[in-house]
Parts: sequence; C-alpha cells; structure tokens
Amino acid sequence: MDSTIFEKINSLDPNKDIVALKKAANILKNDGLVAFPTETVYGLGANALKDDAIKKIYVAKGRPSDNPLIVHIADKNDIYPLVDSVPKNALILIEKFWPGALTIVLKKSSIIPKTTSGGLDTVAIRMPNNNIALALIKQCGFPLAAPSANTSTKPSPTLASHVYNDLNNKIDMIIDGGKCDFGIESTVVEVFEDSVNILRPGSITKEMLQSVVNNVTIDKAILNNNLNILAKSPGMKYKHYAPFGDIFIIDGNINNIISYILNCLEEDKKNNIKSIVIASDETIKNYSSFNTLNIGSRKDLHLIAKNLFNLLRECDTLNIQKIYIESFLEEGVGLAIMNRLKKAANYKIIKV
Ligand code: TXA
Ligand code: MG
Repeated sequence: MDSTIFEKINSLDPNKDIVALKKAANILKNDGLVAFPTETVYGLGANALKDDAIKKIYVAKGRPSDNPLIVHIADKNDIYPLVDSVPKNALILIEKFWPGALTIVLKKSSIIPKTTSGGLDTVAIRMPNNNIALALIKQCGFPLAAPSANTSTKPSPTLASHVYNDLNNKIDMIIDGGKCDFGIESTVVEVFEDSVNILRPGSITKEMLQSVVNNVTIDKAILNNNLNILAKSPGMKYKHYAPFGDIFIIDGNINNIISYILNCLEEDKKNNIKSIVIASDETIKNYSSFNTLNIGSRKDLHLIAKNLFNLLRECDTLNIQKIYIESFLEEGVGLAIMNRLKKAANYKIIKV
C-alpha cells in the first residue's frame, strides 16, 4: 500500500473541506479504507455492501473474521433496505437516540454481505452523531462498515494520531477531526418485539434505554465476566483494549485500595519495574511520590470514559510495565468503563 493520506477536516462544517471530503469518498467508492471520527471513537470505514472492501478491514486491523462490523448510516430511513424489518421497539430507540452512540442489531436483509455480518444473519447499525462521519457517508451514497480504527487488541482510538500509530501505511486515508466526544464505543443492543438486550455497555446506559422501552436486560456475558459463555456479540470474547503493560484493577474500600497500590508501587520501585497508577482527582495526591496519570473526577463518569483509552495508550508511550487502576462502581456509564477495563486487564481484579 502507498503511504496513508492524512487530512484535517473541519468538524463543525465539513463541507468547508469539500475537496478532502470528496477525496475520501472517492477512495471508499473504489473499495479503499478511510478512518474517520465519530462521537464515540475513530472508525475504519469501507463500503458496507461490498465484500472486497470489507475484507480489507479485517486484514488492516488483524481482526478475526467472525467478529462482525457496525454499519453506519447518515439518515434514519436508510436502515430499511439493510434489515428484514424494524420492530416497534427499534423505532422508539431510533427516534430517541439517533443520531447517537446506540447500535441496533436486527435481522439483516440480503444486501448485507456475510463478510460484514461476520457470518451472522443479523446486522448491527448506527447513525453516528458527528458532522464529518455524516457528511462522508452522504458523499459516498452507501453505508459505511466501520469498526474502531485500532489494531485488533489495542485500545480504541480517540484521536487521529492514535489511528496513525496503529494503521499508518495499512489504510488509504485518515481524516483528522479532533478528539472524540465520548471516547468509548457505542452501546450495542439486540432488539426484539418486547425486549431489548444490551450486548455491549456504552454511554447510553440501561437507565436511559429503560426510560423509553420495557424489559431491558444486560447480557449474561457482560455481568458474569466469564469468557467461556459464548458471547452473542462476538467481539466481546476477544482480548481487547490492552496496552503492552499489565493492568491490575484494585477493587474495594478506597482507603484499602490506596494503601494496596502504594505497596505495589514501592515494591516495583525496588525491583526496577516501571509502574504507574491511574488515579482520580479525588485520590491522586496520595501517590505523589510515584508515576501517576489522572483520569478525572469520579463525579464525572463521562469524562473518565473519555480519558480511559487515551491514558492506556499513554502508558505505552511511557513504556510502562505495570498499571494499577482504582475500580469504579458498575452503575450508569460506570458499567461501560469497568467492562472495557476488565478486558484490558484480562480480568486481573484484586479485591482488597
Ligand atoms: O462506537 C462504535 O460502535 C465504534 C464507532 C466507530 O462507530 N465502532 C465499534 O466497532 O466499536 P467495533 O467493530 O470495534 O465493535 C463492534 C461491536 C463488536 O463487539 C461486535 O461483536 C458487535 O459490535 N456486533 C457487530 N455486529 C453484531 C451482530 N450482528 N450481532 C451482535 N453483535 C454485533
Ligand atoms: Mg473495536
């Protein structure tokens, strides 16, 4: 592959950069790969309806081919040709949350290739709330399949530079649209006539879904932390979000957490292990004689979600071998934060 084109596009008014936007759309029309910003994380886009284009995504990311992709559309009505039917529950969710960070899984129509759906007879669809993403899909005139634009197993990218670090020279173009608003991937739900099941928690929480539809459940694979339960969202079973260093989540009473982490940092120092603690506004001063990264205030879980992947990548830049992080309550957005953290830590949770 020739070197990757890197272009900034105005995130408030993408049409101000119409030349770059058209360049990106042309690449996609020729079955190429373009990374673009969404409000959650950067996506790696390809024509969702073309087998040849989709295959390139799996190769560039090193992604297992049974892990299906999310199809991104620019207008709510564009869902109809892609699915068998749209149940009433799905319509309610679309009305309330699109454009936005909610991905809806429904029975697919025949125009979705099996490569896009990872061999499943369902398809995951979302309308992103990002001007560049919407303008790009409109320029293309077809939906874009877009997984997060990271190398498989690495933390999802929240900046164009993260995409560059992972995928430079492996894809045709990267659009730089600044930092993603949410920093954590969309909530994925499967929707039935009379119930909704959360397959991947995100910033649209169970409580928010419950405010408009009945019978919202959280999939067992999320709650049980058990990799052996066959995950219905195939992506959830793979190693994910992991920096090079080992992550340890420390859970329990906050004073116990702090003293446990201080002990570990002290031990690591003696053993010449480069370690760090990811702490919050509320606790960071306790670790002042060690390496620290501040994830934000515990009172603002959205900010913590926004910073999480960025800080995990920062640990790689600093060549950190061991990362200690204080746990968060699994409520509201905290469920999504802990879900990503547990995977990043390969379920190494220490109760104190
Ligand atoms: O926020 C997001 O969702 C980002 C941006 C770019 O839109 N995309 C993203 O895509 O996170 P990806 O491929 O990294 O994650 C897609 C998730 C995976 O866990 C996958 O298994 C699940 O969605 N998924 C996709 N299609 C599915 C289907 N038909 N049934 C169940 N789960 C599905
Ligand atoms: Mg991903």
